[in-house]
Amino acid sequence: MSEVAVVSDVAKAAAELFVEATAGATAARGTAAVALTGGSTAAPLFAELSHWAVPWDGLQIFFTDERAVPPDHESSNYRIAKPVLSKVRPDRVHRLRGEAADLDAEAARAAADLRATLGTPPRFDLMLLGLGPDGHILSLFAGVPHSRGDDELVRHVAAPTQVEPRVARLTLTPFLVVTARTVVLQVAGAKKAAVLARALKGPEDLTACPAQWLRRASGRVVIVADAEAASGL
Ligand code: 6PG
Repeated sequence: MSEVAVVSDVAKAAAELFVEATAGATAARGTAAVALTGGSTAAPLFAELSHWAVPWDGLQIFFTDERAVPPDHESSNYRIAKPVLSKVRPDRVHRLRGEAADLDAEAARAAADLRATLGTPPRFDLMLLGLGPDGHILSLFAGVPHSRGDDELVRHVAAPTQVEPRVARLTLTPFLVVTARTVVLQVAGAKKAAVLARALKGPEDLTACPAQWLRRASGRVVIVADAEAASGL
């Protein structure tokens, strides 16, 4: 069951949840495993976080997905996150190498890194997500069937045909969504209203609307939406 928080400032509300989840995890276990997203909601949140008491020293930072581009490319999710990454110990930033010549091999390397860092099976304390116009989360695009991916953990997916940028991706699998302790989905704007309603309340079809994997989550799921995005709920 997900909670929906309708707020006027999505980044601020998400930042508060970020601090809550990471402070709780570091207090309990000395470290917090976080997966950062890309998309339009990422940069405002990362800017907002500089005003909050985040336990940066305890964070292990991963990425939900990455585009097949070098880390300094304008489409790189890693590049968007740079403002917060400078606060984290460099050996605790686990980049998905979108520039890799062999993305299948890179997916396997990243999965091994997840296990080596977080244990088996790995579990995130906090996963940040955005919602794509086709109903995707991570880079699990609509129309592409996805298994839970318990063993795989990280997958190379072909370039989407209806979502920009049309480049191949590396993505975490649904397993890491459904097992995360806290998932925060940021959604803003009227153009996301219908797809958010479909994700939360529409007939279940995980291939047609991969964001419905959130319904399978065992942890806390918080949808942080502005009034426009929440207008269909
Ligand atoms: C990415 C993301 C992706 C994103 C959604 C929403 O690399 O694009 O990680 O899952 O969160 O596509 O993006 P927008 O907020 O830009 O629509």
